[in-house]
This record gives sequence, C-alpha cells and structure tokens, in this order.
Amino acid sequence: MAQISLGSRILQLPRTVKVAFALFFVVVSLFLLSTASWDTYSRFTLGEHQHDLALGNAQSAYTEPAYAAAQPSDAKPISHHDQSKVLVVSAFFPLPQSNHPISDYETWFSYFLSNLKTDVYFYAPPDVVPLIKKVRGDLPIYINSSYSSPFDIPPLEGLEDIYIEMNHTFPEKKVHHHKMSGIWNAKAFFLDEAWKHAYDTPLGRGGKHYEYVFWSDAGAMREPNAYENWPEYNRVDTLWEEGRKLSGYMMQKDELFFIPIIEMGDWAYRKNGMNWKDTNGPGNPGQVPWSEGSFLGGPPYAVTWFRQVFYSYHNAWLARGHFVGIDQDLFSGIMLLYPHRFITSWISDPVAPAHLYTSVPEGDNLSRLGACGAQWYYYEWFLSDGETRDKMRDRWLGQIQEPENRIAEGNWDGWWKGSNACRLTNLLWVKKLFEREFGETWVPPQATLVNFENPKPKDDIKWVLS
Ligand SMILES: *[C@@H]1O[C@H](CO)[C@@H](O)[C@H](O)[C@H]1NC(C)=O
Ligand SMILES: *[C@@H]1O[C@H](CO)[C@@H](O)[C@H](O)[C@H]1NC(C)=O
Ligand SMILES: *[C@@H]1O[C@H](CO)[C@@H](O)[C@H](O)[C@H]1NC(C)=O
Repeated sequence: MAQISLGSRILQLPRTVKVAFALFFVVVSLFLLSTASWDTYSRFTLGEHQHDLALGNAQSAYTEPAYAAAQPSDAKPISHHDQSKVLVVSAFFPLPQSNHPISDYETWFSYFLSNLKTDVYFYAPPDVVPLIKKVRGDLPIYINSSYSSPFDIPPLEGLEDIYIEMNHTFPEKKVHHHKMSGIWNAKAFFLDEAWKHAYDTPLGRGGKHYEYVFWSDAGAMREPNAYENWPEYNRVDTLWEEGRKLSGYMMQKDELFFIPIIEMGDWAYRKNGMNWKDTNGPGNPGQVPWSEGSFLGGPPYAVTWFRQVFYSYHNAWLARGHFVGIDQDLFSGIMLLYPHRFITSWISDPVAPAHLYTSVPEGDNLSRLGACGAQWYYYEWFLSDGETRDKMRDRWLGQIQEPENRIAEGNWDGWWKGSNACRLTNLLWVKKLFEREFGETWVPPQATLVNFENPKPKDDIKWVLS
C-alpha cells in the first residue's frame, strides 16, 4: 500500500475544515506579526529598562499604565555605590525673635537629617550643635560652628548695619528680620566653602571626591519621606548629561548649575523679565520670582562660579542702593544674565510632555503633574532614583481622596481618566526656556556690573526707591 502524503491527506479533508484551518492560520500569523512589530517598536522607541519592564513585569506594567511606561529608570533597583560623590550643605541660624523654641525645629529637621544617608556639611552657631547632632545620630555629618551669625561670614562681614537700614527702608518686601536676609545671602558662600573644607574633616576620609554639591534648606523636608540617597548620584549625573545635550553640547557638565523654578508668572512678569537689565537691580524684586531659594547646586566648578557671580552682583546692587534682601531675586537676575549656565525643573510647565501627553485628573490638591506632594518641593522627588520615586508616589496617592481610579483594585470607575500618580517632568535648559517665554528674538542682557573684585559697599548708600 502506497503511503499517502500529509499534503494529499489535507487536500482530501472537507472544505469547511480546510477553510477553518486557513482562517486559524491567518489569525495566528497576524497575532504573531503584531506582537513582533510591537516588540521591535518598543525596543527602538522606549529604551532598555522599559523593554525589560514590558516583558518581565507585565502585571505591574499593566496596573500602572501611563507613568510606568514613561519612566525608564523606574524599573531597576539602583546601586548607590557612588552616592559618596554627593555632598549636601545646609545651615541653621535661629532668629533672635523667633516664635518657636529651638526644640520645635526638631521634628522638621528630623525629616531631613535622620533619613538622609548622603554626606552633610552643616553650618550652625555653637548652641545649636547638640540639636543637630541628636537629630543626625550616626549618619555622616560635619557641623561647622565657626560662625554665630551670618554676618560673621567674610562676604557679609560689616554689612549688618546696612542690612538693618535696608530692612527698614523697604517695608513692602515683608522681610521680617534683616538676619533672615543675611542667612539667605550666605547660601552661595556656604555651598562653595563646604565642599572645599569637607576634605579636611572626617567626611573626607578615604580619598573622597565630590562630584556634586547641593544646598538644601534645613527645613525643606516637611513630611516623612523616603529620601535616603538624595540627591541620588546616578539620577543627578544623568540629568547633567541631559543638560549638556539640551545645550547642544555647548556646555560642559561642570558648568551647569541647577536651581528649581516655581512659576514664571503672568504676562506682566514676563515682560518685566524680557526687558530687564542688570542696572535695574535684582530680577523681579519683591514679586513672584522664578527661582526657588531652598535648593541649588551642581558640580564644584559651577558652585564656585556661582558664588563669585552672586557676591559680585550682591555688592554691586547693594552699592547702587538696590534691595538685596531676598536671595531668590538675586538668583533670578543671575539666571537672566547667564541662562546658558542653568538647568531647572518646573512642575507647572504648561508644555511639559509629562503634562500635555498624560491625563492627570483635576483635583484640588493636585499639581499639573498629579499628586506630587507640596509643589514647592517637587525638585526633591525629581532628583531621586526610580525606587524612591515609586515610594513617594504611593505615599502621595494614599493621601488623596478623589478620583479613585486604580484598575488594580477592581475599580473600573474612571480608570480612563488616567492615574493621579506623580509624573516625572523633563529637565529644562534655562536658555531655551527663556527663549520660549520671551520669544526667539530675546537675547540675554549684558552683564555690565559683573566684576569679581566688586567691593562691599560703605555706609553711604543712596537707596533706590521704586
Ligand atoms: C524689618 O522690617 C519689617 C518691615 O518694616 C519690620 O516689621 C521688622 O520689624 C524689621 N525687622 C527688624 C529686625 O528690624
Ligand atoms: C568652618 O567654615 C569656614 C568657612 O568654610 C572655614 O574657613 C573654617 O575652617 C571651618 N572651621 C572648621 C572648624 O571646620
Ligand atoms: C487638600 O489638602 C488640605 C490640606 O492638606 C486638606 O485639608 C483638604 O481636605 C484637601 N482637599 C482635598 C479635596 O483632598
């Protein structure tokens, strides 16, 4: 008996069965094709970690759709081996007429210092040292108690009387105490001094080399948080590389300085900024400033540069009788003069992809990017690694009421609205940002007053009253 081949057997099957087979074949091929092309698509467009996430962790990718897909680095646990290359600088000088006893600051500082594993260099008068030591515990810190007042530091020495006079001359600036202005204007000095002197302290043991140095206000963490390795080295270094790229590789990493901004203000402020010249005094004096004062920093070279420009302008403006009592205004002015040297994060950026292309449900307490805690401190989250960001996202999601739309919990109501989870926005190069805000034709004003030798003013200041 001759063997009947498989092919002819199939040909002999009834037509309905053949059609069914053919259809099945077509459907399976289409399915395979579409899977393969999505795989290729995601490989080339979404980046490595995202790809891993899509394959290895399908379930969590499904339950946290939009934001998980947008954040490549969130997927992998990160080694914090390089965290020792980051130095955090801070200070606390209690005001004489403060309403709070020093012990009230304890809780506040503990959110910052009891958690943070990064090296800290801290300036405080001698009587505050025990409090800081207690809060910090065994974590790495050097407390420098050489100064009892901000007016003891070299750049502000001998200026206290002028600051008192300035405070009384400009009551509309609403600075409660001239010493507050002194503390604010000491930041640029502390930041630069700290990394230079940290090497002479126990912090600097074992051939340390700080690549990034950041100022953080001691009271800038107002809630319990997960910021341990913060600002996280890998994240920070990636951002600086991104900044370089945004500048078209015009800038080097060590030239870029980070100051977060809170609001560009309405059109009137923008016009103010567009036509501003350094001879007008600090940028946007007394009005909503762009820059936040609570955080700033970058690589040591940029930090030193910033200190030099800051005191150069501080002295020049003060000598000309301008109000210099709010650090943010000085920062904003310097950003206008040297926008190419700055990178920033802006939670309220109206055209940020994280805002435009994701749907964040509206809610009273939500920022443009979702439930991100207090908007002022968004930069803290922005400078964290993916794991830490996830922890904070969950915490903030737990704090809000409406709308509840997490598919994972079997609640399909409103799932299409997207998640409230905090989105990560993109880094901005300030030069590009200002050109966007002021128009392509805007060019930075000339720095006519800059001179690193600008002397401190004497007592005979003629105040410029607007
Ligand atoms: C600073 O000026 C404000 C506004 O005029 C005033 O209320 C305050 O008492 C002044 N502070 C000091 C320490 O003089
Ligand atoms: C404290 O800081 C100042 C300024 O950075 C520095 O000159 C001084 O050496 C430091 N003092 C100590 C005891 O570390
Ligand atoms: C917004 O936050 C405030 C203070 O944190 C809280 O009292 C209020 O209930 C919140 N509103 C909503 C709608 O969640």
